[in-house]
Amino acid sequence: MASQPLISVFLLLLVGSVVNSSAAFHPIIRLPTEGTPATDSRSQSDDDGIFCASWHLASETNNAGGWNQIPSRCLSYVRYYMTGKRYESDCEVVANFSTAFASTVEMAPDGKDAWVFDVDETLLTNLPYYMDHGFGSEIFNESCWDEWVASAKAPAIPSSLKLYNMLKQMGFKIFVLTGRSEHQRQDTSKNLELAGYTGWEGLILRGASDGGIPATIYKSERRSVLLNGGYRIHGSSGDQWSDLLGFAVAKRSFKLPNPMYYIG
Ligand SMILES: *[C@@H]1O[C@H](CO)[C@@H](O)[C@H](O)[C@H]1NC(C)=O
Ligand SMILES: *[C@@H]1O[C@H](CO)[C@@H](O)[C@H](O)[C@H]1NC(C)=O
Repeated sequence: MASQPLISVFLLLLVGSVVNSSAAFHPIIRLPTEGTPATDSRSQSDDDGIFCASWHLASETNNAGGWNQIPSRCLSYVRYYMTGKRYESDCEVVANFSTAFASTVEMAPDGKDAWVFDVDETLLTNLPYYMDHGFGSEIFNESCWDEWVASAKAPAIPSSLKLYNMLKQMGFKIFVLTGRSEHQRQDTSKNLELAGYTGWEGLILRGASDGGIPATIYKSERRSVLLNGGYRIHGSSGDQWSDLLGFAVAKRSFKLPNPMYYIG
């Protein structure tokens, strides 16, 4: 009697593993239930999983170009990616490669060795906001977003905070270059500080005259100003290609993942 619950658990595990392996290899292993709605929906979600992983890769590599909303079939993929362990791990790998590169830089005594960081989805994560707004499946709503920015509640991406502090300790001058507007300066620096970021050399936001300029141009122009000021931009970290491309680019650019939105 006492062993019966154990056997049931074992059977459940066994059934679970059969179902799992059939899901992974379903073109080869055909369950007798194939053709029923349950199986159809499972292979549909397998297809979505593969499609969405491919879409995500194409998006991260900029092959997808610009987009306004994630594909609707990818909502559960993006939710799972962002809230599970994978996002954290992907960010950590990027941070580790950044650290490895930074440690090869020969620092000059003039204090002009610099690193540029973007803010959103680079230093800070807006996951709490996007959890309430469909993980990029909803069209961007500026007034909702502005409210969130004003709350200054975005947490740090832990691996970015670690990288930031390590670079600071190594003697890099850190410039925070964001697409947020000048009128959000107070909220942004408050949020960065609350999240643990301190001691940057400059916090650069979009001014009134940057209004309609594409992000790539705006950021390149601001990096040019740094170069003209004698800074050597060794590294640049951002979740958007528009953080990294253009002119006056860093010697090495580090692209953090972001399957939730695209800024051209
Ligand atoms: C990143 O580097 C740290 C420190 O060396 C290490 O503990 C961690 O496992 C690395 N993370 C990944 C995902 O490689
Ligand atoms: C944006 O969100 C606000 C609420 O914060 C709402 O009143 C407004 O209708 C939304 N705008 C659009 C275009 O959905």
